[in-house]
Amino acid sequence: MSFKLISIKDVPKSKLKKFDCGTEVLNEFLSRYSLKNDTLGIGRTFVAFDDKDEVVGYFTLATAQVVYEDIPDEYRGKLPKYPIPSLRIARLAVGKNLQGNGIGKWLLAQAFIKIVHVAEITGLYFIIVDAKETSKSFYEHYGFIKFKDKELSYFLTVETVRKAMEG
Ligand SMILES: CC(C)(COP(=O)(O)OP(=O)(O)OC[C@H]1O[C@@H](n2cnc3c(N)ncnc32)[C@H](O)[C@@H]1OP(=O)(O)O)[C@@H](O)C(=O)NCCC(=O)NCCS
Repeated sequence: MSFKLISIKDVPKSKLKKFDCGTEVLNEFLSRYSLKNDTLGIGRTFVAFDDKDEVVGYFTLATAQVVYEDIPDEYRGKLPKYPIPSLRIARLAVGKNLQGNGIGKWLLAQAFIKIVHVAEITGLYFIIVDAKETSKSFYEHYGFIKFKDKELSYFLTVETVRKAMEG
């Protein structure tokens, strides 16, 4: 399997309507709102295509902040008590008929590569994700940790990911 990742700005609109990951809000975001958010500069969406030029999945990144109270005690370390700069994987989805083939893993790896690059030029501590009931086991599989008193909000530190990428 080989995929290419393209910014939403460069994707023809007609390609987006067919995408179905089984979760309507995620389908609708891609076809209706992802380009608007990108144009506004509030969320960057990247779309993955297969070798037949069909959309297989996408993810959206946006900056975020994590408040001290949400951080589990063992991860507070020497962090200051003001909001911690973070990056949110705001959405990540794979076409319904293609799920379970490693595309989610590939998309997550592509998101991590971009996030680690961003962290080279600005302060970035947590990678956060608001999972869905259907995807929480996917994120847990990759070591994402639950925020304090939150059911579906997870994090990894950028440092953990950077070290894992270095092997
Ligand atoms: C969740 C989702 C992104 C996973 O993508 P995927 O392509 O099906 O996952 P992959 O095939 O890459 O699986 C990667 C690994 O995660 C594991 N996994 C654990 N829980 C999983 C779950 N709920 N769904 C898929 N994989 C899961 C797989 O077993 C696999 O492990 P392995 O590499 O050790 O074999 C995809 O199923 C999806 O788009 N679901 C609907 C939309 C959604 O809920 N998105 C998340 C909202 S932020």
